[in-house]
Amino acid sequence: MARGSAISLSSKPALLSIEDLGVGGIHDIMNLADAFEQVNTRAIRRVPALNGKSVATVFFENSTRTRLSFETAAKRLSAETMTFSAGGSSLSKGESLRDTVETIDAMGVDAMVVRHSCAGVPTQVDRWVKAVVINAGDGSHEHPTQALLDTFTLLRSRQIGDLSGLRIGIVGDIAHSRVARSNVLAFGLLGASVVLVAPPTFLPMDLTGWPVEVSHDLDKVLPSLDVVYMLRIQAERMVNDRLPSIREYSQRFGLGPERADRMKKDAVVMHPGPMNRGVELAAAVADGPRSLILDQVANGVPVRMAVLFSLLGSATSLGSLRADPGSASPGGPGEGEPAPKREDDSE
Ligand code: NCD
Repeated sequence: MARGSAISLSSKPALLSIEDLGVGGIHDIMNLADAFEQVNTRAIRRVPALNGKSVATVFFENSTRTRLSFETAAKRLSAETMTFSAGGSSLSKGESLRDTVETIDAMGVDAMVVRHSCAGVPTQVDRWVKAVVINAGDGSHEHPTQALLDTFTLLRSRQIGDLSGLRIGIVGDIAHSRVARSNVLAFGLLGASVVLVAPPTFLPMDLTGWPVEVSHDLDKVLPSLDVVYMLRIQAERMVNDRLPSIREYSQRFGLGPERADRMKKDAVVMHPGPMNRGVELAAAVADGPRSLILDQVANGVPVRMAVLFSLLGSATSLGSLRADPGSASPGGPGEGEPAPKREDDSE
């Protein structure tokens, strides 16, 4: 996607990084997601916006929520879906990454949602295939749709139009977190101030250019935070062991009920999942009243609908959101319901 809009700078659109979107592009996605969220509350949760299109999830790494939410999003837009998982594929017979994605592309898919344990793979795949490529997480690099759904969740929970004035702490294994990288960009673009809270070994070697503060003391910063965004220790991405003791880490950087009691009155807790309960987050906090964790999961669907629609939809299919000929039944789109706002709308 191009900076500030949902259309790409190159001839083919893509969503590889939050940087592709800019502030305008993020707001476009938020507005579309608002409209799609209403679709998800109807009795028939489907619109024909991407009828005839096909979306492949191409995951070389495990996933629960990201894959399921992309597939649900595609289905609710009436697109066909195709699922590729590395396990059980011809990769085990020695087929290369390039041959694998070119094979999927040759079947005529319109979009590939790509996850890989190596940073940069979706960008490389984008050069090889005709399909539109969406980064669903590449190594420790970026996870743009997670940042978009987190931003949407925060805007929703506070009923605000941007994040200015909010102080957001991202706590834990920042060094290996693609979620942290995308969220620092998205939260910063929407006006939040971000503080990274971690032991030195869990921070990137070089933070030059990151628009963040850094702290090694959760107890010190906690009372000033409006949002506490907890991260999992991503052991699968660690080359060397970076932690002398999980127990000690948990005591200093974990969020248990006592520590959570020292948060601001209306401060919230977020986590991208999967959680390691009892390590970075106590069950009582994860399931408690401050937690937005299940809202994040739920919001993944309308936000990914918005992303797919921005990349694959057209003005004609946008119109189809207002009148769904296939669902002229209770719960189908009603007259006068708001259409998604886009930059080219006159208002
Ligand atoms: C994250 C990921 O895969 O980067 N999870 C997700 O997509 N919801 C975070 C993680 O794995 O810890």
